[in-house]
Amino acid sequence: MDGYWILVGMMGSGKSTAARLIGERTGRPVVDTDSLLTYRLGRPIPELFRIYGEQAFRDHETAVLRSLERQPGILSTGGGIVLKDENWDEMRRLGTTIFLNVDRDVLVARLERSKRRRPLLEVENWEDRFDEILLNRMEVYRKADIILDLHSEDATESANAVMKLLGAEG
Ligand code: S3P
Repeated sequence: MDGYWILVGMMGSGKSTAARLIGERTGRPVVDTDSLLTYRLGRPIPELFRIYGEQAFRDHETAVLRSLERQPGILSTGGGIVLKDENWDEMRRLGTTIFLNVDRDVLVARLERSKRRRPLLEVENWEDRFDEILLNRMEVYRKADIILDLHSEDATESANAVMKLLGAEG
């Protein structure tokens, strides 16, 4: 059966917005791992990081992936989901992974406005921290089935590009 279109990529790459737009246009259900975690554990992400720490947060992410059934939906993921090998096994079971490879400067401009919701960037020199994370993760994101290079600030363009790629323009 046709599985999820799974969006992976850095914080600020527009995964949630693109997923919502694709869902609206295709009628496919949208699932978001961050939202599921927040719902299941009853607290916002920064608080979950504070209470459990990053490692336990990652284990909860894996549990969320494991609980999903393969279905024709859109799955938006937290930026760090790619860090665990077993998450790749789960994502391969669930569908097709698509890396939204957005230019670094576009990401930084977007995060400038929303970094307070990102616990990993709650440090003084957050841009340095961001560059470090990006450098460490680039190789892992490239394990995705499809790599989509994006240069625009606009999440609508990302959504269009994903749908074009998957033959689902509508
Ligand atoms: C994280 C990204 C966040 C969230 C958490 C950790 C990361 O999701 O899961 O703050 O490690 O990159 P977004 O990618 O939706 O910001």
